[in-house]
Amino acid sequence: MQVLVAGCSGFVGTALRRRFQRAGIRLLCLSRRPQAPEEGVVWLQGDAAEPPETWRPTPQGPIDAVVNLVGILRAFPRRGMTFERAHVAVTRNLLNWAREAGIPRFLQMSALGIEEAQTPYQRTKLQAEALVQESGLQWTIFRPSVIFGKSPTGRDAVGLLMKYMTWLRVLPYFVADAPYELQPVYVGDVVEGFWKALQDDGAVGRIWKIGGPRRYTYKEFLATLAQRVPGPVLLVPVPEGLMLKVSAVLQHLPFWPITPDQIRMLRGRNVAPEAGTYFAWLGIRPKTLEEYLDGRLPDEENG
Ligand SMILES: NC(=O)c1ccc[n+]([C@@H]2O[C@H](COP(=O)([O-])OP(=O)(O)OC[C@H]3O[C@@H](n4cnc5c(N)ncnc54)[C@H](OP(=O)(O)O)[C@@H]3O)[C@@H](O)[C@H]2O)c1
Repeated sequence: MQVLVAGCSGFVGTALRRRFQRAGIRLLCLSRRPQAPEEGVVWLQGDAAEPPETWRPTPQGPIDAVVNLVGILRAFPRRGMTFERAHVAVTRNLLNWAREAGIPRFLQMSALGIEEAQTPYQRTKLQAEALVQESGLQWTIFRPSVIFGKSPTGRDAVGLLMKYMTWLRVLPYFVADAPYELQPVYVGDVVEGFWKALQDDGAVGRIWKIGGPRRYTYKEFLATLAQRVPGPVLLVPVPEGLMLKVSAVLQHLPFWPITPDQIRMLRGRNVAPEAGTYFAWLGIRPKTLEEYLDGRLPDEENG
């Protein structure tokens, strides 16, 4: 089996690459940047929103499926990084190419809670899902909650928060009349679903909502991480309204960790009560955040 993966160099993409390599799947991996050679992987350099003829080298050979992991959490319009481009234009381009090239399967990475459609991230992810569903291809959509796991790129939310805790020693949580709930899921458990979807036609036309075994309030989530950071970390309650105002001013600075829209997306119930169906389909036990943080996952699963 040969699969083209867009977003292959990122946090989830790295774990997916490893899982697919283990399964003997040949990978065509698309990235805008040059990448180090890797066994079983052909790196294509190019932009997933641009026609495949511009990718170098151009994709060759029979391709069985396209996996679209491309996504951004923050837009930088001056650098051409908009939600519209990363989510809608990329998905449209990959779908058009898959149809023209006769590639039957399309796996789309989406996110939990997007149906609230409150932010450009959520709205464009929803638009991308609609394109996938109307594509006529054999599609499967994945909607995970916050994902944790080992990330050589350091782009995972958990790793980033722990770095901030180590540097700053103090981190705010938001005080508001809102649940601020999330259900973090292990990256290995997410990419397992992508692998399984390629083996099982029963996954065609499904939207998998995915969360780990436990729900946390945002404060509980931060406290779980803070306990594992060497030295003291102070979690400070800050009114949500104040954080929204401060973030609105500072969000354009690359070092500022959170945008007002990210705060808005955390407000709700970012949880998946139906996640048990997903894990029953996979036939695996969901890994806990604590197991991961305490290094209790076997090496292979740890990254
Ligand atoms: N991480 C989470 O907690 C989480 C939770 C729910 C859903 N998701 C979704 O999962 C997906 C992967 O997330 P991640 O955490 O792995 O993100 P990430 O580490 O930031 O990776 C994003 C990837 O997108 C690629 N990319 C962006 N624009 C591109 C373009 N125009 N053409 C080609 N590649 C492009 C980047 O590749 P290059 O820079 O190498 O080109 C990178 O490989 C995203 O769709 C995200 O919305 C993530």
